[in-house]
Amino acid sequence: MTSTTHYPVWDSFIRGYHWLQVMSVAGLWYTGTEGLMDWHFAIAYFLLALLLTRLIWGVIGSETAQFRHFVRSPSTALQYLTAIRRGGESSNVGHNPAGAYMVVAFMLLLATQLTTGLFANDDIISEGPLAQYVSGELSSLMTSIHAINFNLILGAIALHVIAITVYLLRKDNLITPMITGKKALKANPPKMHNGLVAWGITAAIGSLIYFTWAEEVVAYLW
Ligand code: HEM
Ligand code: HEM
Repeated sequence: MTSTTHYPVWDSFIRGYHWLQVMSVAGLWYTGTEGLMDWHFAIAYFLLALLLTRLIWGVIGSETAQFRHFVRSPSTALQYLTAIRRGGESSNVGHNPAGAYMVVAFMLLLATQLTTGLFANDDIISEGPLAQYVSGELSSLMTSIHAINFNLILGAIALHVIAITVYLLRKDNLITPMITGKKALKANPPKMHNGLVAWGITAAIGSLIYFTWAEEVVAYLW
């Protein structure tokens, strides 16, 4: 029997980004539907800084974070799904070829939500910082897309949690590595980069967003 060792597979930024994103989306859902717009904007700016960093980390980050390492052709994804349906090996280092499509879909959905939010208005006093540069009709259209797209995000989250549960039932626990960062592997650990670099990028982007758009709403929070 080949022995396994616990190797790092998710760096601190990917893990922090993931769980902070979960909390942010929950907070944005609550504040968006309750009309708590100052909090909604503040959390959205934080998520924007996280997502922009994740996109940069997808180019310069750890092997498991890099898009070129996990985004595969649709046929590879289908072959993978057929193989695991037949009971083949499902454990993978990093995202599997099918899961990669979920990651890309999530990022596109969140980017759409953040972009439309910047142009949205609540018909009362709050509007995204870019709404003033477009016509009232375009701002209303962006607001409608913002509401509709959120339902797509909820659908994607449901599918995501179902998929993770199916893996769990197949005795492939993906959740623990997303918390501890480590996974038992027989060989070939992925090349990891220091997540602190990504956190530094988040701080830089966050400061830029803060001084451009967020200073005023943050001052109103308390
Ligand atoms: C707001 C809800 C959620 C969103 C938007 C979300 C989004 C994402 C994204 C974008 C990734 C890819 C991470 C990356 O490469 O940077 C991911 C991975 C992952 N998520 Fe979530 N997630 C959500 C909720 C959850 C929940 C509740 C769980 C636990 C049950 C979970 C477990 C995981 C796991 C285990 C992975 C790694 C999958 C793998 O090994 O390929 N997620 N999620
Ligand atoms: C991923 C990030 C975001 C999520 C998940 C989110 C979610 C939501 C939700 C669920 C609503 C309630 C929609 C409804 O009325 O049915 C909402 C409303 C709103 N959001 Fe966001 N939002 C995000 C980003 C943003 C950003 C970046 C801004 C602007 C800086 C923004 C500005 C607004 C405004 C002005 C409304 C009120 C629209 C209305 O009254 O219909 N949102 N958002």
